[in-house]
Amino acid sequence: MIDTTPAVQAFRSSILHCVRDPGEQDDTAVEYLEDGLLLVSGGRVEAIGPADELLKNLPDSISVQDYRGKLIVPGFIDTHVHYPQTDMIASYGSQLLEWLNNYTFPTERQFSDAAHAADTADFFISELLRNGTTSALVLGTVHTESVDAFFETARRRGLRMIAGKVLMDRNCPEYLRDTPETGYSDSKALIERWHGQARLQYAITPRFAPTSTERQLQLAGQLAAEHPDTFVHTHVAENVREVEWVAELFPKSRSYLDVYDQFNLLRDRSVLAHCIHLDTEDRKRLASSGAAMAFCPTSNLFLGSGLFDLSAAQSVGARVGLGTDVGAGTSFSMLQTLSEAYKVSQMAGQSLSPYRALYLATLGSARSLYIDEHVGNLAVNKEADFVLLDWQSTPLLSRRMQAAKTLKEKLFALFMLGDDRAVRKTFIQGQCAHDRDAG
Ligand code: GUN
Ligand code: ZN
Repeated sequence: MIDTTPAVQAFRSSILHCVRDPGEQDDTAVEYLEDGLLLVSGGRVEAIGPADELLKNLPDSISVQDYRGKLIVPGFIDTHVHYPQTDMIASYGSQLLEWLNNYTFPTERQFSDAAHAADTADFFISELLRNGTTSALVLGTVHTESVDAFFETARRRGLRMIAGKVLMDRNCPEYLRDTPETGYSDSKALIERWHGQARLQYAITPRFAPTSTERQLQLAGQLAAEHPDTFVHTHVAENVREVEWVAELFPKSRSYLDVYDQFNLLRDRSVLAHCIHLDTEDRKRLASSGAAMAFCPTSNLFLGSGLFDLSAAQSVGARVGLGTDVGAGTSFSMLQTLSEAYKVSQMAGQSLSPYRALYLATLGSARSLYIDEHVGNLAVNKEADFVLLDWQSTPLLSRRMQAAKTLKEKLFALFMLGDDRAVRKTFIQGQCAHDRDAG
């Protein structure tokens, strides 16, 4: 007889995940199992608990993958990243507006070529997995080909991903322009083709206010209203000169954020990258609208944009996720990104605790993307996307770990010093999708 019961997989390791927001101090917001067992069935978490308890009831037919000495955490979630900018990461010398003209637009031009888009998407997803990132909110380019290629790759590789075509009808090279009408109809066709397929969701993606006419923003708002369960994804208040430019282009708006508000682009599932040069009224409005901020520290430092104020975001109750913002961001690693987030907070006299850092990279980012019913921690029934971290991935980390006395101390050192080498394996729905030490 054919056995139709889904195979159960068992993973034994230390396990750490957030069950809610740890805020400044709340250590009970994380669950830590020093010797834990994670059972996965049908790609979902079937059980999680102390190994000695769960092993008692585990049938002998199930072999345990033994990773004792390592740490399982939920897969990282990157709330803002540009896959077409992979090839231009680390481009020298300018701030946002020149950087866009000099490097970004010529690079994005190549994505009218479906083969180039497919090749880049495949590399990009491999790079995410190498860094332990299992879900992301991703910008394509203005070309629909870029989004088709990305979603095809993400579907083939089984990832939970959100992406969209960039809308851009002015203040950019002719070769990257759509029109309000084609932007609307192309986005609508992509929603129909991809939104809700497998683990994929669509984001309506006006690049930023300066590159869209009022008509384009209006149609983007209309599309968002017609499809309330899609995302809205854009940039806001990243760079001082950009903010001044928006004030000139939209003189009737109270602020940069207000431009998006006027076009009905602030709502649940809106994600705004950067949010550096906002005032308190903006922050309160953003929070009350249900939108989220994507904190992108490596990008903000690299482009000299400014320092994100995490405490101010928290004090208005805004959803905040962490983003790499590659290619302005300088690393795909969410560990490296946390390290820079910590330093940015220090510059404002704030300190990002290790548990809150874990939250930002996992459950907090999942909540920002409204995907926390599926991923973000390892609660029973969630999709089993997780990462096996190696405390000892470099000689320095090994030595530092010997001196560390508590879990928090170890975790903090791992976040400050870790990178892709600390990601031993990455699992998507319980299946190994990256193995650092394989071939
Ligand atoms: N603002 C508008 N477009 C971009 C982009 O591609 N990267 C960043 N960092 N900011 C932007
Ligand atoms: Zn960006």
